[in-house]
Amino acid sequence: MAATTANAARVVALRFDRGVLHAIDQTELPWRERELELRTAEDVAGAIRRLAIRGAPLIGVAAAYGVALELSRDPSPQTLQRACELLRGARPTAVNLAGAVDRVDRAVRGAPGGELARTALDEARRIHAEEEAASRAIASHGAELLAGARRILTHCNTGALAAPGRGTALAVIVELADRGSLEKAIATESRPLLQGARLTAYELARLGIPHELIVDSAAAGLIAAAAVDAVIVGCDRVAANGDVANKVGTYGLALAAGAAGIPFVVAGPTSTIDLKTPTGADITIEERDPDEVRIAAGQRLTLADTPCRNPAFDVTPASLITALVTERGTVRRPDHDSIVAHAA
Ligand code: MRU
Repeated sequence: MAATTANAARVVALRFDRGVLHAIDQTELPWRERELELRTAEDVAGAIRRLAIRGAPLIGVAAAYGVALELSRDPSPQTLQRACELLRGARPTAVNLAGAVDRVDRAVRGAPGGELARTALDEARRIHAEEEAASRAIASHGAELLAGARRILTHCNTGALAAPGRGTALAVIVELADRGSLEKAIATESRPLLQGARLTAYELARLGIPHELIVDSAAAGLIAAAAVDAVIVGCDRVAANGDVANKVGTYGLALAAGAAGIPFVVAGPTSTIDLKTPTGADITIEERDPDEVRIAAGQRLTLADTPCRNPAFDVTPASLITALVTERGTVRRPDHDSIVAHAA
């Protein structure tokens, strides 16, 4: 039986303490563990834009605190509106961001004049606690589903650095390690910003979970060669028909898993389901700076003016998804009706 990770050093990506939001600067991991101290909505929006804070559920929680921080400086309706707009616009694809900001906005609008800042902070803390509880439930449901899988491949970073608690897809892997059935996690590098190499490998190493890092282009071949039992990934937005936007490269993993006949599982809280977005084609895919493709870890990889395209996410059609795991349970072969029923 594998050693339990319960007492292993758990990363806490975000904490609110005495009027300051403390966040690990994820752009500096794994080389340097430095905490940012964020005091304004602009501080938080800036940290989200440059991926110092990242991962769909985590940016939602951070943005909720961002609204509360700004209202504690100036508890006026104008400031509320400005802070909400700023934070909603920090990144476009993960629905958790706008969802959490909208929740704080709604809560505050019903509050008496002198209570705006406190109401916003209470709502941010509630969202934070709910996401942490969701992570625990996802881990448990996902581990039931993947009880027979020993070698599990994952993409990007979906652990404690991406969501409160132990994360989403990575929380399932951690739970399987705790239950003693995991042989190893296989993490993709996740170019261009290397969330797999920098963050997932860091989290797995801290937890003492056996793992291997592969370049993104090795995944399909390893899956086809029966070196992987299942693939599990997180999600940034689940459309009403079950299509999923997640880190660029996810779609290719789903195709490879489907061709090899192994499970392709998506894990995320219901706060990532967006019933207002009918299909994956309606999801806005963030296009990031081409220099993220030209440069890796400070090293220029190509000519300074090589034309590059840098979509941060792609869409996996529902038809390729074996199951969606949320805090409420498992939706097998998700489609419009099952997603709407699950999220209602
Ligand atoms: O650009 P990032 O690093 O924020 O992308 C993160 C992902 O794509 C994750 O897979 C997703 O947010 C799920 S996190 C639990």
